[in-house]
Amino acid sequence: MIEYALHEWGSAALRWFHVIAGMAWIGSSFFFMHLDAGMRPHAEIPAGKGGAAWHVHGGGFYEMKKYLVAPASMPAELTWHKWQSYTTWISGFFLLGWVYYAQSALFLIDPAVRVLTPGAAAAIGIGSLVAGWFVYDALCKSPVGKNENLLALIGFVFVVAMSFFYAKMFSGRGALIHTGALMATFMSGNVFRIIVPNQKKVVAALLAGEAPDPKYGKQAKQRSVHNNYLTLPVVFLMISNHYPLTQTSAIIPALVALVTFAGAIIRHFFNHWHADHTKAPWWYWGAAILALALAIWLSWQAAPGRVALLDADRKVAAGAPSAAAQAAEIIQTRCSMCHAAAPVWEGILSAPKAVRLETPADATREAHAIALQAVVTHAMPPNNLTDITAQERQVLALWIAQSRAGR
Ligand code: HEC
Repeated sequence: MIEYALHEWGSAALRWFHVIAGMAWIGSSFFFMHLDAGMRPHAEIPAGKGGAAWHVHGGGFYEMKKYLVAPASMPAELTWHKWQSYTTWISGFFLLGWVYYAQSALFLIDPAVRVLTPGAAAAIGIGSLVAGWFVYDALCKSPVGKNENLLALIGFVFVVAMSFFYAKMFSGRGALIHTGALMATFMSGNVFRIIVPNQKKVVAALLAGEAPDPKYGKQAKQRSVHNNYLTLPVVFLMISNHYPLTQTSAIIPALVALVTFAGAIIRHFFNHWHADHTKAPWWYWGAAILALALAIWLSWQAAPGRVALLDADRKVAAGAPSAAAQAAEIIQTRCSMCHAAAPVWEGILSAPKAVRLETPADATREAHAIALQAVVTHAMPPNNLTDITAQERQVLALWIAQSRAGR
């Protein structure tokens, strides 16, 4: 019986670790971008070769100086910022494996999208992350990489195209998490393959008493800026798997495009804001809000059960007989094998998310959640493992509409 505890705690501990590592990484990324934006000329540092900024925090004042490409000689002590990134990626990779590859029938493979074996699904997932990194890295190193804006545009199109690919391979939530994981792989790959190795080359030059090549600093800065803009979209994609309205396959590329745009432009606002409050481009917020409003509207238009719900409202108005008994029966036969005190579905140890759907009273209590998960969206049953029919969803829709109308 210990497996109950291991299953639950394995997931909880991994997620805890992942979120904390991500906070440490994103926190330091935000901080250094802020620091960079706020750098002012400093008497000891030649113009264009760095600057300084004052910060106050936790009872003290900090004078931070930046040396571009490097100080004249190697400092006695140097703190590297890399393990926040590595541990975020590693824990994220294991979490992806735990949730999506080890339980792929529940979360990753949707036979209505594509029939895959668990092995094939995992191979596509992992293979695409590796291949995606090489494409992105090659883009940055190609002549395109010399033009920041062109590179950003092509990178954006590449990510959206990959989300289209994932939406053709995986369940909606599987597609979103892989798009997020791909961007996160760019980010960690940037730290692991470019930023830190380049900084090591600079350190080696300093130790040898040579002037480091400025190109190393430039390359590292380019990747660091990419990481900064990817942060907000990635975090959205990571949490999207808790929100089924975002998971409709047909809109995933559009959603990824809108959220990436919104997240990046919000970061852009803050980069300006931290450089000079008086010149902050407030209209960026308008653009971000517009993009999010469009995403919300799109997700509702594309919601698989929107039409069924509108139909149900019409039937209620026309005085359709109560669907409660039929709905309870459907929930019994399509949901309760997992959503029970003692589930009979293999691999489900206890009622998922503590949602129990065994009796008509349970159904009434959970009506709102059922409406979202099984009527508005088709998140439940997961990948339709229990073969609920369109007609049965219509009955659930009618029951929901009737209970909303108080009948
Ligand atoms: C094969 C097992 C299985 C079946 C059948 C199933 N569910 Fe679920 N359900 C799950 C799992 C697993 C989760 C947790 C999902 C997650 O971790 O994101 C869940 C979560 C939920 C939640 C909570 C969602 C949340 O994020 O809070 C609701 C509500 C729900 N299911 C309703 C239903 C309904 C209604 C049906 C029948 C139409 C159903 N489920 C059928 C496995 C199942």
